[in-house]
Amino acid sequence: MTDTLEPTKNHVYVKDGTFHRDFEGLYSDVDDPWKTEADPHGSFSRKKERLAEAILVDNVSSYLEIGCGKGIWLDRLKASSNSNIIFSGADISTVAIDAATQRFPGISFDVLDIRYDIPRSTHQVACLDNMLWYVMEDIDATLRNIFHRVDACWIVHFFWKDNEQQKYGRDFFHGQDGLTSKLRADGYDIYRDERIDLPDDPSFYLGFICFRTLQVLRKCS
Ligand SMILES: C[S@@+](CC[C@H](N)C(=O)[O-])C[C@H]1O[C@@H](n2cnc3c(N)ncnc32)[C@H](O)[C@@H]1O
Repeated sequence: MTDTLEPTKNHVYVKDGTFHRDFEGLYSDVDDPWKTEADPHGSFSRKKERLAEAILVDNVSSYLEIGCGKGIWLDRLKASSNSNIIFSGADISTVAIDAATQRFPGISFDVLDIRYDIPRSTHQVACLDNMLWYVMEDIDATLRNIFHRVDACWIVHFFWKDNEQQKYGRDFFHGQDGLTSKLRADGYDIYRDERIDLPDDPSFYLGFICFRTLQVLRKCS
């Protein structure tokens, strides 16, 4: 095992316009592929604060992270949130979910591909934390699958400050503005659309978008 491999170089990378995604190989070969545990830029802590704050404000009782990897971020969020919230995680990688299940027995984890599957249990909110790039081609099916079972969704995502840097997937969405325009056009209601600067990483900012279906709004009114 090593944590020095660049995930984008060896397992998850774009070559000749094709996106190669070997998450199973990645989690087998690399201990902390996204530096979630190491959190060298502190971005993890900033995200955690934002989400914990949103959870309290929105009075959420059940929470699902889709693309939770080894569950580290989920466990930290659980530790800093209201103890009544039920936390669950899901990921396409069996290796990651096996590790998460062993390490965090207080959280339930499932293996699934959100492009095709939906979790069996129901959750109030779902969170997609830096995993949208990997389902871009299937973003419509992904959103439909999510909203089949949840009332609201949060997307936490790194975006380039200079949109021209986004070399892949512009047809699906281009930058945070492109994503929010798409969501609005598709009939989702966006109630938070924030950009968090990362002082140590001037090329990127952290986008934080919360949205729900208009059907939910109609149900509430
Ligand atoms: C960049 S990582 C983020 C991991 C975690 N959220 C974190 O911050 O440490 C993206 C995750 O999405 C998962 N993933 C990619 N495609 C997926 C899919 N179609 N369905 C479910 N999970 C997927 C990958 O296995 C990976 O764990």
